[in-house]
Amino acid sequence: MKRATLAALGLATSLALPAAADDIKVGLLLPFSGVYAALGNDIEAGFTLALDQFGSETDATFDIVREDTEVKPPVALAKAKKLILQDKVDVMAGIVSSGVLGAVRDMVHGAGVPLIVANAGNDEATGSACSPFITRMSFSNGQVNRPMGRWMHDQGIRKVYTLAPDYAAGRQMIDGFVSTFTAAGGEIVGQEFTPFQKTQDFGPYLAQAKASGAEAVFVFYAGGEAISFVKQYDSFGLKAELPLYGSGFLTSPLYVNAEGPAAEGVITALHYVPTIDSPENAAFVEAFTERTGRVPSEYAVQGYDSGRALIEATRAGANDRASLSDALRQVSFEGPRGALSIDPATNNIVQPIYVYETVAGAEGLTQKVLARLPAEADPVNGCDMAPVSN
Ligand code: PHB
Repeated sequence: MKRATLAALGLATSLALPAAADDIKVGLLLPFSGVYAALGNDIEAGFTLALDQFGSETDATFDIVREDTEVKPPVALAKAKKLILQDKVDVMAGIVSSGVLGAVRDMVHGAGVPLIVANAGNDEATGSACSPFITRMSFSNGQVNRPMGRWMHDQGIRKVYTLAPDYAAGRQMIDGFVSTFTAAGGEIVGQEFTPFQKTQDFGPYLAQAKASGAEAVFVFYAGGEAISFVKQYDSFGLKAELPLYGSGFLTSPLYVNAEGPAAEGVITALHYVPTIDSPENAAFVEAFTERTGRVPSEYAVQGYDSGRALIEATRAGANDRASLSDALRQVSFEGPRGALSIDPATNNIVQPIYVYETVAGAEGLTQKVLARLPAEADPVNGCDMAPVSN
């Protein structure tokens, strides 16, 4: 049995298998508890699916050591240190929160350990704080939201109120949207950032949005906060008079059915929806659904493509921290999202963005694609990096 499979079963660390020259130790650093726990589980499911599916294409085998960030930057930093110094991992993958990515960046860069970012969109990690050791297979916060500013303006929307949790991702997602919306001539009539992981009652913020004179509301919320927000937005009676837009994590297929009818009609933008019509996506949806019993989300595909990137890097002969770092930033393949590549100027992924509406389908809520917006590389934002070896 491949070690990836053993690891997925939680057995790898307890088995004393002889070490092979191409045995790659992978530190999987994800939230398995806290407000983003479901996201971490979906990323892991996608990651292990890819190792099992593509593992026969490489001579390398993979031992996985999992650590829970708890969505807490200091906890995550301690776990990253343990993976790097004690477990001596060859490569790390994961990280959901932009705050956590900001906290571990210097440790990862200083130790020269390759990190495949499987979610956290922190703009700085592929901008002013970029590193040849950090390659992002997910998205950047600005990348997901900038196209939506232009698109909403094109739909005739001129006045918007914004809301997001008060931490790096919330601020950067909103900044991305605001930059293009205002450049197109739109106006932000009000903006609030809600205490992250602490806001139970969005009522006071919704009252402000209602009184603001906005024609629409644009938000970023994810995980447990997205479920509460979407439900409260509807029960507050706002949905009919003030249409709700956002980054697509708001209505992720991972938890949209927990939001229920409150999510119907919400329009958002994202780099992946399971309704993308391509043979690569159909095969992925089938394999993931068969394995987990649920439709894959953006988190699942990010884990899957991160696992596949690791396979591609080892196929190219990489087998230690330096060679893996160099090989990871050169991967490109046709995945469920479409053609993927890494921008050599920043190590951020380049990919199209889909505007989608959440609609009722035969088997619950589903994603109707309204527009496919072309892939754009992020601005370099002060990133200046040299390759690791050679
Ligand atoms: C982030 O903190 O970067 C983040 C978290 C959850 C998401 C997207 C981005 O769904």
